Amino acid sequence: MVHSVSSLLSIIVVLLLSPYVISVSIPIHQDSFLKCLERNSESPFPFSTLLYTPKNSTFTTILQSSAQNLRFTLPSSPKPEFIFTPLKESHIQAVVICSKELGIHLRIRSGGHDYEGLSYVSEIERPFSVVDLAKLRSIRIDIEDNSAWVQAGATNGELYYRISEKSETHGFPAGTCTSLGMGGHVSGGAYGAMLRKYGLAADNVIDARIIDVHGRLLDRKAMGEDLFWAIRGGAGGSFGILTAWKVKLVLVPSTVTVFTVAKTLEQGATKILCKWQQIADKLDEDLFIRVYVQTANTSNEGKRTITTSYNALFLGDADRLLQVTEHSFPELGLARQDCIETNWINSTVYLDGFPNNTLPEVFLERRNLLKTYFKGKSDYAREVIPETALEGLWEKLFEVESPLVILTPYGGMMSKIPESQTPFPHRKGTKFKILYWSRWQDAEENVANHIDWTRKVYKFLTPYVSKSPREAYVNYRDLDLGMNKNRSTSVEEASAFGTKYFKDNFYRLVLVKTEVDPDNFFRHEQSIPPLPLHMRGRN
Ligand SMILES: Cc1cc2nc3c(=O)[nH]c(=O)nc-3n(C[C@H](O)[C@H](O)[C@H](O)COP(=O)(O)OP(=O)(O)OC[C@H]3O[C@@H](n4cnc5c(N)ncnc54)[C@H](O)[C@@H]3O)c2cc1C
Ligand SMILES: *[C@@H]1O[C@H](CO)[C@@H](O)[C@H](O)[C@H]1NC(C)=O
Ligand SMILES: *[C@@H]1O[C@H](CO)[C@@H](O)[C@H](O)[C@H]1NC(C)=O
Ligand SMILES: *[C@@H]1O[C@H](CO)[C@@H](O)[C@H](O)[C@H]1NC(C)=O
Ligand SMILES: *[C@@H]1O[C@H](CO)[C@@H](O)[C@H](O)[C@H]1NC(C)=O
Ligand SMILES: *[C@@H]1O[C@H](CO)[C@@H](O)[C@H](O)[C@H]1NC(C)=O
Repeated sequence: MVHSVSSLLSIIVVLLLSPYVISVSIPIHQDSFLKCLERNSESPFPFSTLLYTPKNSTFTTILQSSAQNLRFTLPSSPKPEFIFTPLKESHIQAVVICSKELGIHLRIRSGGHDYEGLSYVSEIERPFSVVDLAKLRSIRIDIEDNSAWVQAGATNGELYYRISEKSETHGFPAGTCTSLGMGGHVSGGAYGAMLRKYGLAADNVIDARIIDVHGRLLDRKAMGEDLFWAIRGGAGGSFGILTAWKVKLVLVPSTVTVFTVAKTLEQGATKILCKWQQIADKLDEDLFIRVYVQTANTSNEGKRTITTSYNALFLGDADRLLQVTEHSFPELGLARQDCIETNWINSTVYLDGFPNNTLPEVFLERRNLLKTYFKGKSDYAREVIPETALEGLWEKLFEVESPLVILTPYGGMMSKIPESQTPFPHRKGTKFKILYWSRWQDAEENVANHIDWTRKVYKFLTPYVSKSPREAYVNYRDLDLGMNKNRSTSVEEASAFGTKYFKDNFYRLVLVKTEVDPDNFFRHEQSIPPLPLHMRGRN
């Protein structure tokens, strides 16, 4: 008796000492979890068939099924205690209630493309478990209404395909990679080849369904405009479990044109890229030209060069495209035979890099063509990077085996949307986004070298990119920018990465977080923290 009172006292002391939360690791008993799920289920369901532990022979297959960065699939990466694969929203509601009750730390995975693997690996907090939404992926297209409901576990490619089944003149402005999970992708903004015409996927969301920390299922009306604002760009994993988006479909012409034109250093790549930087954000909004910068061998034995590949979508036919490029970008030398006229759905297959003649049905396979070991970092350029700096960049590119730098043009609709309309702040004045990507094929390679290379290039370009803050794209998550150390991280610590991803919108995201999840149940290394107790208002 005396004993239990004193241990109770010590628990109270611990509670009092912790400012507002405690991180205790409670050993998780599958049994109590399953019992809790049953208790909180609207109808009886064999929940054990949705629960994978390392003892199940298929555990590793399920874990790796959508782990898109192989860097986090090695034996050294921490593994979840279990993976839960809900089939219905009510299953997720029960999971949230029971995880809270049993002190289980959850990670949420839709398509698994998180650059730092945060949807299936937790470095800072263990044990942890994964809710994998891959089986929650129905799509309902309503052409009459120009809208669609798409569940979080569906990929953007599946959405494109389902739209194309119904109409040749509708599309959706999400990613060019087509295996992205709609849950994580749209939460962080989501751009593709139509961003200059229609903005981000997040800009085209009209309703959503989310399960909050109390296990309630909320639509836009029920969640209110603050939370609805936060989830359209504030990134996944901070506010709740998103189960579906209602999106506005956009109109596309029945004939669109795509092309890829490459220029090497020998063909004047540096000067042409200077011109691209001047005009890429000012071109006709129907035209999107991004640039892939890579290294290549020349015919001259042992000598390497840089190739700049201009990869484009034009929302119109080749005749009009040639008029636009001859007028605005004659240096590219685009010719009729470079242009491929096709329909919108085939253009999405092309832009994702599938081989010629691949049918759009390939999207139903949810295949990621870039599944590899990688590290990425991002930047935003507001001014032209001068020729001398580009030459320095080429030198850096020659230092690794297969570097990739991608320049994505902004302007158009991106400049018309105010910075605070959604949490995604990289709008007016942004010329283009830069991605530095280092990839490798083999776990035995010199990983540190590859990762270090992205940091060196990032450092090298410091004088030429956005500053105070140096902006970054939250969907290209980069833990170098800062990290929450634990559940009771400070807003100040989080502002290191938060203001890079969201600029001043970060502070509004903190207020929404404080409102909807004050105890920081939904969290990860770069989630939005709530205000500490002593800083909260009384109303
Ligand atoms: C090869 C590759 C190509 C890419 N191409 C593009 C591109 O063309 N355009 C673009 O904009 N971005 C692109 N990205 C980045 C991509 O948008 C982000 O990685 C995005 O977060 C992926 O979402 P996901 O659901 O697939 O990833 P996940 O890893 O499942 O999730 C990402 C984050 O969101 C959280 N989350 C996931 N689902 C939910 C949910 N239902 N509710 C709440 N939180 C959730 C996760 O916990 C995690 O923190 C690319 C990434 C890769 C690896
Ligand atoms: C995992 O194994 C347990 C115990 O054998 C079983 O009850 C459960 O159904 C298995 N899970 C899945 C998803 O098959
Ligand atoms: C370029 O040449 C090097 C060495 O000659 C070779 O190892 C490499 O595979 C070549 N790369 C390409 C893309 O052909
Ligand atoms: C694919 O199509 C492009 C453009 O028409 C062409 O240049 C290329 O050679 C084709 N590739 C293959 C492998 O057929
Ligand atoms: C789309 O691509 C498929 C596969 O290459 C092809 O059969 C079809 O004709 C294409 N459609 C159009 C409109 O180009
Ligand atoms: C969380 O991290 C901070 C430092 O960032 C530290 O002061 C604090 O003690 C940590 N809290 C716990 C519970 O580990």
